Amino acid sequence: MQLTSSRKIALLFGATGLVGSALLDELLAHDAYIRVIAPTRRKLHKQHDKLENPLLNFDELEDYAGKLPCQDVFIALGTTISKAGSKAAFRKVDFDYIVKGALVAKAGGASQCLLVSSSGADQESRFFYPRVKGQTEEAVKGLGFWATHIFQPGVLVGDREEFRLGEKIGIGVSNLLRSISPSILGNYNPTKVKVLARKMVEAAQEMKAGVQVHRALELLEEEQ
Ligand SMILES: NC(=O)c1ccc[n+]([C@@H]2O[C@H](COP(=O)([O-])OP(=O)(O)OC[C@H]3O[C@@H](n4cnc5c(N)ncnc54)[C@H](OP(=O)(O)O)[C@@H]3O)[C@@H](O)[C@H]2O)c1
Repeated sequence: MQLTSSRKIALLFGATGLVGSALLDELLAHDAYIRVIAPTRRKLHKQHDKLENPLLNFDELEDYAGKLPCQDVFIALGTTISKAGSKAAFRKVDFDYIVKGALVAKAGGASQCLLVSSSGADQESRFFYPRVKGQTEEAVKGLGFWATHIFQPGVLVGDREEFRLGEKIGIGVSNLLRSISPSILGNYNPTKVKVLARKMVEAAQEMKAGVQVHRALELLEEEQ
């Protein structure tokens, strides 16, 4: 495996999403990347000299093994149980697609994997959502990338067109608790999407081997 810190190709899964679109902007603007390959199931409304946007059926992700060359893979895939329609459909995206995406990237030469997970992720949890998130983290760690960065944001703060009640409640409760005690939320602090994206791209430039977990407290803006 050859490690490079410039003229890199980034592979980005989830570019149509809230975190993914912020990541896409960061990656396209960063000098370390000469190409950004962002496979999606619906076309991106963005055009850029560095950007390639293959359309694919994520149920056939395995077919792309070795066909998507990259050094760094950024994974910001995910859904909600209500959007997916069932726990099984949620797991298909938040576990199967993420792990298969990471495998495809590894087959394409990726040495670094940067994954968006969630605060509270825990493979032993008795609750479904954090358990799936934790299982996904463990599966991705097990793939043995030279560097694996796992980001565990709190509730996401960004400009989402779609209305998500859970997110709105999470942000409201967090703001209330923080007004009572600024330090009360710890690693359940809300995370600004732009800060998360910037920190993910910065982490990929550190070239630090092994597994790093970035918790919500680390994802606060310095002045927050
Ligand atoms: N929301 C929060 O407050 C919060 C908090 C902590 C962690 N997280 C985690 O952060 C990650 C990113 O969240 P986000 O809010 O940016 O997600 P998002 O806006 O819902 O975007 C998710 C991405 O996954 C893709 N995707 C979903 N279902 C798919 C399917 N069946 N086939 C192919 N692609 C599919 C979406 O593509 P389409 O656009 O085509 O649907 C989109 O690109 C997720 O893993 C989430 O669990 C979220």
